[in-house]
Amino acid sequence: MAGSYEIRSRFCVFRGPAFRLPVVVIEAGRHRRPASPVRRGGLVVLCWLAVVTAAPRRHSSELVHGLALFGHLVSVVLGFGAVLLVDWFGLLWLAGRRTLDDVRRTAEGAHVPIWLGFAGLLGTGLFLGPPSPTKAFAVLLVGVNGVYTARLMPAMARGSRLLTRSLVATGISQLGWWTAVVLGFLTSRS
Ligand code: HEM
Repeated sequence: MAGSYEIRSRFCVFRGPAFRLPVVVIEAGRHRRPASPVRRGGLVVLCWLAVVTAAPRRHSSELVHGLALFGHLVSVVLGFGAVLLVDWFGLLWLAGRRTLDDVRRTAEGAHVPIWLGFAGLLGTGLFLGPPSPTKAFAVLLVGVNGVYTARLMPAMARGSRLLTRSLVATGISQLGWWTAVVLGFLTSRS
């Protein structure tokens, strides 16, 4: 429609009278809505349940076990390493040496390595054997608390401080990761 303008959004179309202006079309992109925290939490619990119940009670071959253990350690580095980086930025913020925006951006950037590491730990654990009940609980805590922590982020972006909740979630995360690491190490020594 020459000589008019048309602006389309996802919900409505604005049309203007015939000016001698080029047509301007702004189409809002189709964004997939992120899954709700309940769905994400449900997915984490399902994957955890599947891995903990399916982990072999008998030893797999030396080669498979060795490869899985290597993958397990790489996943610890990736997942827990990214978590430690975010928490370190959180500490710097508490000390007044970083802004809340720095922490939020670091947490957003670390999201993928954290979940890749966690998924890698579940996937490789499948070939290592069942974890002790306490370690299994620590792994579940890490996963569910991770979903909750990711949910706090948008609120922080709106400027809400949520200091107490973030501190509690960070404490739970550290407790869960360290428990899983120490118990995994003890299992490998026994
Ligand atoms: C947050 C998640 C997890 C963390 C941080 C973690 C961490 C570790 C670490 C640090 C080790 C010691 C490796 C070594 O000393 O060479 C280990 C070993 C082990 N992990 Fe995990 N782990 C996690 C999840 C799992 C899961 C989900 C399973 C099983 C389904 C599992 C099963 C095992 C087993 C059986 C060993 C002993 C392997 C061996 O030496 O034979 N882990 N884990």
